[in-house]
Amino acid sequence: MFMLKPCLKEAQKRTKEKVVFKSDIYKVSDELKCLGKNKKYYIKTYGCQMNEHDSENIKAILEDMSFQEVDNMEDADLILLNTCAIRENAHNKVFGMIGRIKHMKETKPDLIVGLCGCMAQEEVVVEEILNKFRFLDIVFGTHNIYDLPNILKKSLDNKKIEVDVPSIEGDVIENIPVKRDSKYKAWVNIQFGCDKFCTYCIVPYTRGKQRSRKHEDILKEVEELVKAGYQEVTLLGQNVNAYGKDLSDNYGMADLLRDVALTGIKRVRFVTSHPWDFSDDMIDTISKYPNIMPYIHLPLQSGSDRILKLMGRRYTKEAYLELFNKLKSKIPNCAITTDIIVGFPGETEEDFKDTLDVVNKCEFDSAFTFIFSPREGTPASRMSDNVSLKEKEERLYKLNDLVNKYARIKNEAYQDKIVPVLLEGVSEKDANCLMGYTDTMKLVNVKCSKEYLGQIVNVKINDVKTWSMDGEIVL
Ligand code: SAH
Ligand code: SF4
Ligand code: F3S
Repeated sequence: MFMLKPCLKEAQKRTKEKVVFKSDIYKVSDELKCLGKNKKYYIKTYGCQMNEHDSENIKAILEDMSFQEVDNMEDADLILLNTCAIRENAHNKVFGMIGRIKHMKETKPDLIVGLCGCMAQEEVVVEEILNKFRFLDIVFGTHNIYDLPNILKKSLDNKKIEVDVPSIEGDVIENIPVKRDSKYKAWVNIQFGCDKFCTYCIVPYTRGKQRSRKHEDILKEVEELVKAGYQEVTLLGQNVNAYGKDLSDNYGMADLLRDVALTGIKRVRFVTSHPWDFSDDMIDTISKYPNIMPYIHLPLQSGSDRILKLMGRRYTKEAYLELFNKLKSKIPNCAITTDIIVGFPGETEEDFKDTLDVVNKCEFDSAFTFIFSPREGTPASRMSDNVSLKEKEERLYKLNDLVNKYARIKNEAYQDKIVPVLLEGVSEKDANCLMGYTDTMKLVNVKCSKEYLGQIVNVKINDVKTWSMDGEIVL
């Protein structure tokens, strides 16, 4: 039987080969259009916004084949796990879930089970699946989502596990359908893959090389979203600031931000920004257009120059602080959040203190903090590491205490203020409340009627906590 298994060596490669733009590669034959008739699907998504958005594409593809979505895994005829490979615990969660599904399949032999996303792109993961979990029906990767109908058909015809995971640098595929989770805010891919190869990170191997979508295609998508009544778009990429650098049309992120703002969409967001590519033009554009939100996620990773160098991050503590201060001074009311890794191989107490020092200087609005997790195939996984897990955990707790302190202080500044909030859903904590985010990405719960759903309203903040606020609408 033919299998296309992922290959780490291939995934590490970067050649000069040109990116191909494919706009008519997604097709569903009449036969496949009925494949899912009377069948239900459940998809579980792990990982980042890019995976969330891929799942929105996958849902639309499955619905093109007549499958219907269900919220409960037990009710599904097809279960798909869209996975994340960024840290060991993401892996473990997925393998735990596969074990659970294996039991389900024993009583429900017709259950179709699939694995896709970043873990599927890992050679070691697919080997483990083939050794221990051959009950799976399909395994496909991040590069060939469009081919899901054919992959599924092959597996059903052959009654065998179908592995189809190309380890390629990747193309730009347009016109994949999408079933969006929200009616008010939308993810829009602007760039795929990553070429930064930070030494700890697996993304460049699971997502291929950095490649930008054409701005015409992005703007068309945003214009359609505006017409459909969307209030907010978030432009997605691993290094959105480097948008366009791989194209030869002299059109970069500052141009794209301007043109997206000019479509008239009420709110423009973007993630993730790498400090290396943040240009002055971008900063000027963000401060010029009121519908570009004053919120930037600017991963720090470490405050130690020595560790930043080992990580291959291409900036120093000094340069990070300089950029941070520039953003704060040029963009009024700008909130900045970050990502930090503790316990990188060989991180000393001194290095860690440098990280704490940056946190104290920046007083981030919030931060995602992680313990370094060695990923197969990355340079950092081969670096010698003499820091104990206990030590790393203590550093993480210490860092979290500091991060939480500043998050709380930043929130407290909102007490009694009136701020714009896009009400996007029912609050998880209280069914009588709607929830949404301020322009600066603060979570707010608002006691109000459901008729405000999907609107940007002025909210007076009555109470603040570390991770959320409560408020009421003022008209
Ligand atoms: N492209 C983004 C990051 C995407 S991954 C950037 O360059 O900033 C999201 C976060 O996961 C990273 O910012 C990093 O803090 C964390 N991360 C990535 N690899 C990791 C690893 N091996 N161990 C622990 N955390 C990791
Ligand atoms: Fe990973 Fe670095 Fe690329 Fe971000 S920039 S996705 S951390 S390699
Ligand atoms: Fe995870 Fe892949 Fe995103 S590894 S963080 S799902 S790009």
